[in-house]
Amino acid sequence: MTLAKIVYGSLTGNTEEIADIICEAFENLDLEVTIDECTQVDATEFNNADICVIAAYTYDEGTIPDEMLDLYEDLQELDLSGKVFGVCGSGDTFYEHYATAVDSFEEAFLTAGAQKGSEKIKIDLAADEEDVKQLQTFASQLVAAFQSI
Ligand SMILES: Cc1cc2nc3c(=O)[nH]c(=O)nc-3n(C[C@H](O)[C@H](O)[C@H](O)COP(=O)(O)O)c2cc1C
Repeated sequence: MTLAKIVYGSLTGNTEEIADIICEAFENLDLEVTIDECTQVDATEFNNADICVIAAYTYDEGTIPDEMLDLYEDLQELDLSGKVFGVCGSGDTFYEHYATAVDSFEEAFLTAGAQKGSEKIKIDLAADEEDVKQLQTFASQLVAAFQSI
């Protein structure tokens, strides 16, 4: 069975909801899924997954939230070759550095040797109906990418 792991950081709930949408999409595709808030989990747990997802919101001046920094650092030390990753998260287009934490986590996964399974998704504040569809497609693409490895 294909195992997917989702780790998210969320202050006001938007990114948590995004992570939940992806979780449900994976479950509908018959994957075994774990979903964890970033402070409750160690990056090394991605070693046990086939598909690795990080959902992150962006904080001041486009930075990674403090509570996600350990995850960000540790991720880059892993060898995730043979695994597929996807990144997504919420930001606010009001800010100059829109949802740039998503870009940082993409770089971290690439450093860890994981294979990008879908284009990253940035969502303006809370996910709307269109975003939900996009997130479901994101989940399907990750599964298809893993199956074709
Ligand atoms: C103090 C502060 C700084 C922020 N800075 C940024 C930023 O630089 N870029 C961005 O895209 N969003 C920024 N945001 C917006 C949040 O990323 C956005 O509200 C997001 O939906 C929060 O996700 P969450 O509900 O999962 O916590 C900032 C929000 C706050 C409160």
